[in-house]
Formats: sequence, C-alpha cells, structure tokens
Amino acid sequence: MTQPVSAPAIRARKGSAEPLVMVTAYDAPGARIVDDGGADLILVGDSLAMVVLGYDDTLSVTVDDIAHHVAAVARAKPKALVVADMPWLSYHLTVEDTVRNAARLVRAGAAAVKLEGGRKRIPMVRAILDAEVPVMGHVGLTPQSVHAMGGFKVQGREVDAASELISDAHALADAGCFAIVLEGVPDTVAQMITETVPVPTIGIGAGPSCDGQVLVFHDLLGLQDRLTPKFVRRYASLKDDAVAAVAAYAADVRARRFPSDEESYHLSPDVARRLKARRAPASTASEAPSTAPVVPAVPAVPAPRSGPEAEDSIGNPYAG
Ligand code: KIV
Repeated sequence: MTQPVSAPAIRARKGSAEPLVMVTAYDAPGARIVDDGGADLILVGDSLAMVVLGYDDTLSVTVDDIAHHVAAVARAKPKALVVADMPWLSYHLTVEDTVRNAARLVRAGAAAVKLEGGRKRIPMVRAILDAEVPVMGHVGLTPQSVHAMGGFKVQGREVDAASELISDAHALADAGCFAIVLEGVPDTVAQMITETVPVPTIGIGAGPSCDGQVLVFHDLLGLQDRLTPKFVRRYASLKDDAVAAVAAYAADVRARRFPSDEESYHLSPDVARRLKARRAPASTASEAPSTAPVVPAVPAVPAPRSGPEAEDSIGNPYAG
C-alpha cells in the first residue's frame, strides 16, 4: 500500500512547478473518485452543509456531522491527505474546546484540520498545532462569516481590506499553518500573498497564481444545478446524466422491461417441478370445493442459463 500524502509533504511543495490539487469529498465513493483522479488533498469541507445536507449556508453543520463524513472518507483509505473542516463555533469558544474538537476530527480519520479566519484565530491555531495536529488556514471569503460579511462576497477589493488580508495570511503562515486556502479574493491580492508567504496557497475564486486550486466535488462534477459562481469550472454534468438514468430505469420498470430473465435468479427445473407439485391443489379429480388455502399459481420457470449454485454467490458488491 502506498503511503498517504502528509501535511509536511504538502508544505514542501511550496515553490514546486506543479500546482497542488484539492477536491472536497464527503463519503467513501466520493473519496475514491477524488483519489483515483489524482488529487493531492481531500477536503471534508463544511460545504457538506450546503451540497449534501441541504442547508442554505455552512453554519448548521456540527463537529459530529463532519466527523461522521470524515470517517466515511477515511474508510476509502485514500492516498491524498484528508483535511477536515472545523465547523462554525467549534474553534471560537475556548482553547480546550477547540483542541478537543480538532482531536475528534483526527480520531475520525483526518490528518489535518482547516479553520477559517486570520489573526484573531491565531491562539486557536497555535493550540491545535501544539496538540500535534497540522492546521490549514482559510482567509478571504470565509463562508462561516456570511452574516458578518453581509453575504457571500469577494473580499479584499480595497487597499485597506487587501492589506488586512495579506497580514492575516502572513500571521497564519508564521503561526505554523502548512497551507492556506484563499477564497474569493482578487487575483492580484492572491498573487501578492502567494509570492510572500512561505507555505502553499490553495485558491478558490482567487485566480491562477496560487500554489494550488480547490473545487467542491459537486460543482466540479455538475452534480447539482444550484447557482454556481464564476470561478467554478464544471468538468461533467453528472446531475443531468443521473436524472436521465433514473428516468430510463423508471420507464423500464413501468414497461416491465426490468428486470430481464438474465437479471433474475432461477430454480433448477427439477426443484421448480417438485415445488409446483407440492404447492399444487391436492386433487384436481374432485369437483368438491377445496378447504386448502388458495395458493398463487407458480409461473412457468425458464431454464436457467447457469446453475443456481453458481449464481448463489453474488459477493458483496459494496465491499472494498
Ligand atoms: O467547505 C469547503 O468546501 C471549503 C472549500 C470551498 C475551500 O472550505
């Protein structure tokens, strides 16, 4: 088995010619898709709230929710580094609470955690690092601050705001974050941060200069048709494909085209004959009304294509 990617290995990619690739995932099949696609990092993001759990923002998701999904991702044993998002209010109250919540996500299977915010989160970042858990920073459009920001808006558009953002990124790097997500910031600001911080920046809506890029699984694959911001590039239209597939299945079921004979299990002719004989009414000679329970007619049994014994072992299609 290949060794999973580590946080120090990601940190060491700063300055490398090849950008880092991060994609979110929330369950085992998603993690396998992302890992097989060659991503370096899997983020179990709190976008879980919006793309999987149906909330309108990320504020309702809990540590338990994230831990549940981190565990599912970890069970896929990806090579990519599994980073767990710390949800809103899981790192805002006390240092003890913060470290305990980070530890919960590590015990669920994460190898690093990510939290939103700049300088004011530094004590929490330090405490988590002190507990030997790698931390990824996240500045710019931080969705957990949706109400404080007055909506999901690009950040750092003016000189002062951009300057604050750059200072936040530097403070996170100085505190020891191994990478920093830059979300929803002008490309020039992202470039200035990327060129001056000693750790990789991973952009989303932050232009092409970052050391890596991240997209949300459902956006990348077109698994939903909710409003997509302009920084999303869709590489597939799986929602359309999935709707068409379910519609085709429904049509086949309603027209009795599914399941076919090949998709059914069969008795051997001998067992079918003996079963029919046992279940048949005792005597067809007598015209007297029978008191035996009414048995539904057994339909004609087609000859099996392969022996029933061979068919019995269907394996576990969901294992592995
Ligand atoms: O939760 C998430 O998916 C994120 C990414 C958009 C960076 O934080």
